[in-house]
Amino acid sequence: MPHSVAIVVGSLRKDSFNRKIANTFIEVAPPALEPAIVEIAELTFFNQDIEGSPPASWVAFKSKIKAADAVLFVTPEYNRSVPGVLKNAIDVASRPYGQSAWDGKPAGIISGSVGAVGGFGANHHLRQSLTYLNMPAMPQPEAYLGSLGDCVDANGELVDRTRQFLAKFAEAFAAWVAQHATR
Ligand code: FNR
Repeated sequence: MPHSVAIVVGSLRKDSFNRKIANTFIEVAPPALEPAIVEIAELTFFNQDIEGSPPASWVAFKSKIKAADAVLFVTPEYNRSVPGVLKNAIDVASRPYGQSAWDGKPAGIISGSVGAVGGFGANHHLRQSLTYLNMPAMPQPEAYLGSLGDCVDANGELVDRTRQFLAKFAEAFAAWVAQHATR
């Protein structure tokens, strides 16, 4: 049975490079993985006052994360950290205390930026949250995809070298998930 992977994309932009990366990961992933994007755009802002009567968007998102064997985060860097929409999604599925949907799930991180640094700051801020959430995050290979504007061809597709990198990353992630998944 392949392991299901919930992909959480940290950009809501229609032409997002990070969404392209996520879609390409889905194309190149080995048969051992069954990846699908889980959307975060409709999530109500986290507010602890309504934890006891959660909005439908929270309940649906949490159940999709719970159902996944592993999680792959594909995110841009905003102001040297993770975009607020991604942090909101993380917070939403982490509560109520003791009922986190993330607990124990193996994770991968790909950060992507039009800048040269490839979202290093976002990548590592995210690792900090994953440690707290008890998610074993794959250490190697690291994926800081920089200069993304140069990684797309005239048809808007990712160029071969980026696809090849993602295929290698996906192979390593499949092995990581096989080692750490709890089912
Ligand atoms: C950015 N961008 C950016 N890039 C970077 O390398 N480091 C950063 O700290 C930031 N900060 C930042 C803040 C905000 C509010 C925006 C909108 C953008 C640029 C960012 O990498 C670029 O917009 C990417 O194209 C965003 O990813 P998507 O939407 O293409 O997936």
